[in-house]
Amino acid sequence: MDRRKILLDADVGIDDAIAMLHLAGRSDVELLAVGSVHGNIPADLAAVNARHLLELCGLDDVPVAYGARQPMAQPLATAEWVHGEDGLGNTNQPAPKRGPVAEDAVSQILRLTREMPGEIDLLAVGPLTNLGLALCLDPELAGRVRSVVVMGGAIAHEGNASATAEANIWHDPEAANLVFGAEWPVTMVGLDVTQVTRLRTKELAEIEAIGSVRSKFALKVLSHYLDVYQRTFGTRECPLHDPLAAGIVADPTYMTEWLDRAVEVNTTGPTRGATIIDRRAWMAPAADARETRERNGGKDATPPLVRVPMKVDGPRFVADLIASLK
Ligand code: RIB
Ligand code: CA
Repeated sequence: MDRRKILLDADVGIDDAIAMLHLAGRSDVELLAVGSVHGNIPADLAAVNARHLLELCGLDDVPVAYGARQPMAQPLATAEWVHGEDGLGNTNQPAPKRGPVAEDAVSQILRLTREMPGEIDLLAVGPLTNLGLALCLDPELAGRVRSVVVMGGAIAHEGNASATAEANIWHDPEAANLVFGAEWPVTMVGLDVTQVTRLRTKELAEIEAIGSVRSKFALKVLSHYLDVYQRTFGTRECPLHDPLAAGIVADPTYMTEWLDRAVEVNTTGPTRGATIIDRRAWMAPAADARETRERNGGKDATPPLVRVPMKVDGPRFVADLIASLK
């Protein structure tokens, strides 16, 4: 089987951890390396959490690199109230056996994509600071990457970090504009699909029935996350932001409806961090415009087209997620 080679960039909090468990349990992906980034928690703690997750999954040899400790143009802000002081729902996990590598996350992205041009899929489930910095250091990076899947943004859905902004984009809007403006095939998995793809009572019971090390860990860290979302939804269920993006990088057919549009991130005023696309029907590009552009090498005067899923096959994805915890 042709396994997707994935380079993960993450602010390893609770849903990032579930995404890592899912990747580790899929036979169609190979996790090459992980880079940490600020966001849910400080970047250095996210790196420690990534190491812990890899060791839990028997992926001890996958390297973890420290990434950006702050956004490009705004102060650091973290979200321990959602993810716990340790980023893993205050579950007091043991220290990992190994530490992160000496190479930083941006250098790791540049080096691995030079060693394996055209083979790597970048999966970014935190703020886009590392990817933005990597593009600034080496604009040719875009041409060496097979695809980029970002968990972030919101089109028709309201924001979760502000009225209009999704958290990962809100944490570093300048970096997000660099990523959406580069000539590489980006899929933006936003709140329109992640907020409605959820674990509910039935699925939580299915995970409990598995009884594996990974399923037990998942339920333990999810407890805090479910407490937080119970206050929002009124019921004990939670969205699957990062896990869905991880699923889509492995199997894009989870997406059933999408828009291919230029994405611009607003960087001023109260809607800073909002992701804006032109949804007017008469402005829609041809259905195959994104593929044509890729074939032509993007020598176009117009901004790149980002794929934005608006509907996914949620039940199939959730079933696969549960199966991956066995
Ligand atoms: O908005 C959801 C995103 O913000 C997820 O990546 C979550 O982990 C947080 O980083
Ligand atoms: Ca995340």
